[in-house]
Amino acid sequence: MSAKKDVRILAYESSCDETSTAVIKNGREIESLVVATQIKSHQRFGGVVPEVASRHHIEVITQITKEALAEAETDWKDLDAIAVTYGPGLVGALLIGVSAAKAASMATGLPLIGVDHIMGHIMAAQLTDEITYPALALQVSGGHTELVLMHDPLNFEIIGDTRDDAAGEAYDKIGRVLGVNYPAGKTIDAWAQEGQDTFHFPRAMLQEDNYDFSFSGLKSAFINTAHHADQIHEKLNKKDLAASFQAAVIDVLAEKTVHALQQYQPKTFILGGGVAANLGLRTRLNAEIKQLKQQPKVILPPLKLCGDNAAMIGAAAYNLFEAGKFADLTLNADPSLELPYAEHMLN
Ligand code: KG4
Ligand code: ZN
Repeated sequence: MSAKKDVRILAYESSCDETSTAVIKNGREIESLVVATQIKSHQRFGGVVPEVASRHHIEVITQITKEALAEAETDWKDLDAIAVTYGPGLVGALLIGVSAAKAASMATGLPLIGVDHIMGHIMAAQLTDEITYPALALQVSGGHTELVLMHDPLNFEIIGDTRDDAAGEAYDKIGRVLGVNYPAGKTIDAWAQEGQDTFHFPRAMLQEDNYDFSFSGLKSAFINTAHHADQIHEKLNKKDLAASFQAAVIDVLAEKTVHALQQYQPKTFILGGGVAANLGLRTRLNAEIKQLKQQPKVILPPLKLCGDNAAMIGAAAYNLFEAGKFADLTLNADPSLELPYAEHMLN
């Protein structure tokens, strides 16, 4: 019997403020990963400016395609498919990646695979360790906060979602009040390690019998505290403010996750998304899971795979490739694409 042929996928990601390309072997091995970040261009506006993002994606996408192929010592003829994030995200930004991938697919005849960005974040875990199913993922990023039950690599069920702000969005908004540059999560996390939870902000939805999240009440409580102190010229300790905010976020994320793990008893637990880089959250989840009677395997991807990158898109695309789920040249950007998805895929 002959050994199974390797599958090499060139993947594109351009849903927000990073343009990224990668070559991924068999959905598990990173042969190359290039990430061109635009954060500096957006910082002076305090957030991502969609039109600026699209322009930067256009400027670099051809160059970083060449770089990803060169770094992987691969040529177009060695590839088996082209994959691209087609949603959710900023429509203009998504369209740059989608157009580049479609052009590459048309020019080479290689099959095209459309990938959900959130599925990508979760599948960063596949580049780190073997996922055994059923699995449960806590997906926390700038735009999403979800608990996702995964029956297999393609069948996802959202069991908990945010009712308002996503966790990363809340970090960025309170960061602005503290004078921290966008994106604020990393700095708030670092300050939190040096401060104390002295403000005891509210932990929303903890008493509720569901897996949904809400962070806008916490954000408002934080902003009110900071503004009130400003008005009476009282100086608050920024590190304690950061620690108090982070403690409230982590309490809610960790408690809901632990309940879901107890109820669904998955074989693997995955943490994904930009906020998965949070040191406080990683430490707390690890500690809580160690206390469980039924302990899942825990996959916390390395920090470079938590933020937006094309490697995670290549990992997710491999599962679609294996299932024969290809897109065609009618593939379009879908800014509000939701998990689970099937309608844009051809069998
Ligand atoms: O996944 P991602 O790169 O982009 C989206 O798909 O949204 O996530 C970006 C978010 C930003 O809101 C950023 O502040 C947050 O992830 N973030 C963090 C940390 N590092 C990045 N939040 C908390 N702690 C961190 N260490
Ligand atoms: Zn993302």
